[in-house]
Amino acid sequence: MIRIDDLTKVYDAKTGPVLDRVSLTIGEGDIHGIIGRSGAGKSTLVRCLNGLVQPTSGKIVVSGLEISRLSGASLRTARRDIAMIFQHFSLLSSRTAAGNIALPLEIAGVPKDEIRRRIPVLLDVVGLSQKADAYPSELSGGQKQRVGIARALALDPKVLLSDEATSALDPETTEQILALLKDINRRLGLTIVLITHEMDVVRQIASHVTVLEGGKCIETGPTFDVFAFPKSFVARSFLSSIVAHDLPPQVQQRLLPSPGAESDPVLRIVFTGEAAHDPVIATLVEQFRIRPNILHGRIDYIDDRPLGILTLIAEGGAPVIDRVLAYLSSLGLYGEVIGHAVRPAAAGARRSAS
Ligand SMILES: Nc1ncnc2c1ncn2[C@@H]1O[C@H](COP(=O)(O)OP(=O)(O)OP(=O)(O)O)[C@@H](O)[C@H]1O
Ligand SMILES: [Mg+2]
Repeated sequence: MIRIDDLTKVYDAKTGPVLDRVSLTIGEGDIHGIIGRSGAGKSTLVRCLNGLVQPTSGKIVVSGLEISRLSGASLRTARRDIAMIFQHFSLLSSRTAAGNIALPLEIAGVPKDEIRRRIPVLLDVVGLSQKADAYPSELSGGQKQRVGIARALALDPKVLLSDEATSALDPETTEQILALLKDINRRLGLTIVLITHEMDVVRQIASHVTVLEGGKCIETGPTFDVFAFPKSFVARSFLSSIVAHDLPPQVQQRLLPSPGAESDPVLRIVFTGEAAHDPVIATLVEQFRIRPNILHGRIDYIDDRPLGILTLIAEGGAPVIDRVLAYLSSLGLYGEVIGHAVRPAAAGARRSAS
């Protein structure tokens, strides 16, 4: 549905590119999250997608049309397929909910009868049938965003761009709006590009994710894969509140990069669904004679698939660790030795010696 090739945007030659050779693909019917810190270039990227910002170089194709080459009337026509919702809703305060939703239809020259027929349908899609005549000042944040979504859907777009559309909402309302977007995505087959700085938004609804940092695309792929095996430090740090990739600092302090005389391997096991019911821990104890000291663990559901990460000190496991890794791999689990923990007694002895 969307192809971005080598997209570069320079606003000011002195400060360098805001987008730096970004390439990614977004499939039809995907919910694609774009995540990055403030200033990473997320809003610039979506503005390039709907032609509001002209790229310095590179190519953007949306639904077969090269947006980056269009201008004037042909760009306006192409934009009908690309709707957008915003953090602060951007509703007209002088118009009712129905009036706001009618606006893009009026601008597109849709006949009045047709508009009158479409408004109740659109209000129903977003669950606001009772609020047709309410003004924005009489609506809650969540209801305003529902009006924004209905307005965005008015011209039957193929792509919905969302720039931080839930950032001004409380957690419960955020969840309701995300559920609505997912529902619209399923029912209408609408492709959604979701800009956010919250990994939890990505976890809840995105099928794919791209991580932007300093204008560069540093990771892109199915959400589950990026969450389970993040390659970049930035992705890991975004994920730290959601997935247990990193260890508590007090444990990290005790880790050595290579085995010492008085150390045990620290094992990280990633469960990605299928084998999650195997008695792995019992096997470690009974077959390998390891005393697992569990440091950290949790199971999350990403895109409806379970992802479990368990970190443990494999006490007494140093001599058998290669066989343990082979055993995990035979189950289809990902095992990794992330360090070596000094035994607390040895750590104490070292401290008093120095
Ligand atoms: N119209 C503009 N002219 C000049 N510089 C701009 C313009 N728009 C954005 N920038 C700069 O481009 C960089 C990226 O901005 P952008 O708004 O795309 O970031 P963002 O990832 O959306 O950040 P945030 O999470 O804060 O919304 C920033 O350094 C910003 O100052
Ligand atoms: Mg932004």
